[in-house]
Amino acid sequence: MLTIAREQREREHFDSVYGDRLWKEPMYLPDDLRRRYKECRDWKVYGKECVFSLAGDLEGLDVLEMGCGCGTDSILLACNGATVFAYDISPQAINLARKRAKINGVDDKILFRVASSPSQAFVDKKFDLIFGNAILHHLDIDEVHKELHCLLKPGGRCIFREPVVFSPMMGKLRRCIPWYPSNPTEDEKPLTYQTISLLSEGFDRVDIYYFECISRIWYLFRSNRFIDMLHRFDAWLMERFPFMKRFASVVVMQMVKG
Ligand SMILES: C[S@@+](CC[C@H](N)C(=O)[O-])C[C@H]1O[C@@H](n2cnc3c(N)ncnc32)[C@H](O)[C@@H]1O
Repeated sequence: MLTIAREQREREHFDSVYGDRLWKEPMYLPDDLRRRYKECRDWKVYGKECVFSLAGDLEGLDVLEMGCGCGTDSILLACNGATVFAYDISPQAINLARKRAKINGVDDKILFRVASSPSQAFVDKKFDLIFGNAILHHLDIDEVHKELHCLLKPGGRCIFREPVVFSPMMGKLRRCIPWYPSNPTEDEKPLTYQTISLLSEGFDRVDIYYFECISRIWYLFRSNRFIDMLHRFDAWLMERFPFMKRFASVVVMQMVKG
């Protein structure tokens, strides 16, 4: 169980992030962005395209989004056909997500809740797909692992995109270079080989994809073209030299229940 103090710290941190974003975040998702996560042409290069490519056509499926933040991915999932059940610990995030869903014309396909666990958000509900982008590393992995199995329908899947640290050297470097320009929370911990193996236990099939070695520092550059080149170089590097995967900073995991 996450302690009440830890939940409170997470809520306060993200309330301040999303409260601030009320004036910054684009409310309407442009058509090219929707198209990008429908077509996913660069799924080998970008982790988020990989997640949406694995999810595929979601017509008629019930999808749970854990830690949905300001709702961008919930909206994209709904645009790809899903009925979305999304929750987040931050009331400010959910407030913003609800407004954005309405502006994007998918508010009838998404149910948003403020909650700190799926069972608290949607009592007794089971899902075809459980989706998360940068949420597991904020949670107690032992507890989440047990919960995921209970929440999935038979044949259901989980797909997550998460930060990882596999090598102690990268762990030290990471402490010198911030993960993103924003402040990390006090309690978050990137996944490791151990936590990935714990999460995978009991699933019939697990697929793992690796992203962002050098391109992890993308935000230090202004040129989108150069940033894109860095991501492509990383994809080539890890395909050509698989041992480089241990320097990846993002993984996408798909876990399938039999
Ligand atoms: C790094 S953000 C990612 C948000 C969103 N998935 C995205 O990709 O933009 C992590 C999110 O997890 C939420 N969060 C942290 N701990 C949580 C918990 N115990 N239950 C639900 N949400 C939580 C935060 O409020 C925040 O919105």
